[in-house]
Order: sequence, then structure tokens, then C-alpha cells
Amino acid sequence: MKILGIEHLAIAVKNIDKSSPFWSHILKLQHRVTETVESEGVITDIYDTGQGKVELLESLGKDSPINSFLENRGPGIHHVCFEVDDINAAIKELRDNDIAILSEDAKVGAEGYKIVFIHPKSTGGVLVELAEKP
Ligand code: CO
Repeated sequence: MKILGIEHLAIAVKNIDKSSPFWSHILKLQHRVTETVESEGVITDIYDTGQGKVELLESLGKDSPINSFLENRGPGIHHVCFEVDDINAAIKELRDNDIAILSEDAKVGAEGYKIVFIHPKSTGGVLVELAEKP
């Protein structure tokens, strides 16, 4: 697979409204969009650094994976996302190498990206997302 760069760092927060002023007013990152991604159970608040984005993730409900992450580990870095040129080729390569992925196929994530998550047990403890630009 070909990695094109770090697409975003995702940070689990309890409350976007309380967390966002640091990113928008102190670091003065440009706000791109706030989006609800039902399939992932999150509300995501996305900022541009110029080289890779920061996404704040807030739980959309009790069953959200962000809820269990916050309960187990507290607020903090949730996953790192790398942009790839071809998500389906990347998934095949992961499968061929017995790397544990969290879905059968690519899913559609925030901003219409095609995404897949790699289990932390295959990466040294970090949830890794791969994403192909729409
Ligand atoms: Co992400």
C-alpha cells in the first residue's frame, strides 16, 4: 500500500463544546466541519493544521465506541489516520498479511472518506485508520 501522509489525529473528548475552544481559539486551527457519523457512533469536529487534521470525537450515545474508550482510558488520543491512495488494495494487503481489521470492507467515514480500522493488537497498541479521499 502507499501511505500519502497523516490524514488526522483523532482525540476522544467528553464534550466538544468544552474542548473546542483550545483548538480553535488558542491554537487557531481552521475549523472545517462538525459532522455526525451515525455508523461510527460519533460527532466529529474537524480542524485543519495545514498538514494533517485534528478530529475531536464525542460519543453519540450509550453504545458508541467512544463511550467505552472514555470509560476505560479517559479522554485522549483515540486513533491516528493515514491517507492511502487505494483503500481496497490496502485492505487486501492487510488481509494477506493476517493483520486484524475491524470491518469486512471499507466503510464511509467523515467527509465521505473510504475508511478501515486496524486493530491495536496488530499495531503495537494504537488504533490505526486508513482512509482514501473521496
Ligand atoms: Co478517524
